[in-house]
Amino acid sequence: KMKPSGADESLVYMLGEAPGEDEDRKGKQFVGVSGQLLRDQIPDEWEEFLRWNNVIRDRPPKNRKPSPAEIECCRPALIRDIESALPAAIFGFGGTPLDWAIEDARISLWRGKRFPVRVGSHTCWYYPIYHPSYILRTRRREPDSDSEVGSELERVFRFDISHAFADVKAGLPTPKAYSAEEA
Ligand code: URA
Repeated sequence: KMKPSGADESLVYMLGEAPGEDEDRKGKQFVGVSGQLLRDQIPDEWEEFLRWNNVIRDRPPKNRKPSPAEIECCRPALIRDIESALPAAIFGFGGTPLDWAIEDARISLWRGKRFPVRVGSHTCWYYPIYHPSYILRTRRREPDSDSEVGSELERVFRFDISHAFADVKAGLPTPKAYSAEEA
């Protein structure tokens, strides 16, 4: 039952899939190896403006994908938390948060495009970004320094994060989310 962490009211809501083993032990989101890869990309001055959470709040056994029932059990609490944090943007890592938001888990199709989402009573922008554990799993080489990347996908991951933060910093337009009927 991992509680969200970070700023109560946040500019950016960092949304992952589920706690991993390290997160489960330490009681905080994205504090394992893949979390470190993600946190390394975040400019220091942003830390106080971020809130962290996952689509599900318990660690699934053996890190399997969360089941639809688990996702639906956690949905009301996540919606309430986003309604109270009032972020300008959600950065969603991987297919699970994307599926949670728009019922489409195809991250390679959606990454690099922001879109408006309505979460409960709150409307904001959603940025689909690859999950850092996928970036670690698909590395083709071990980077020797911070300026090197382990794959082209890792370059994309870094680009998407820095681009998304720059977008938020520049000031986002008012998001308008359309219902299927309106669209
Ligand atoms: N992966 C996630 O999706 N969330 C975490 O908190 C850690 C790893």
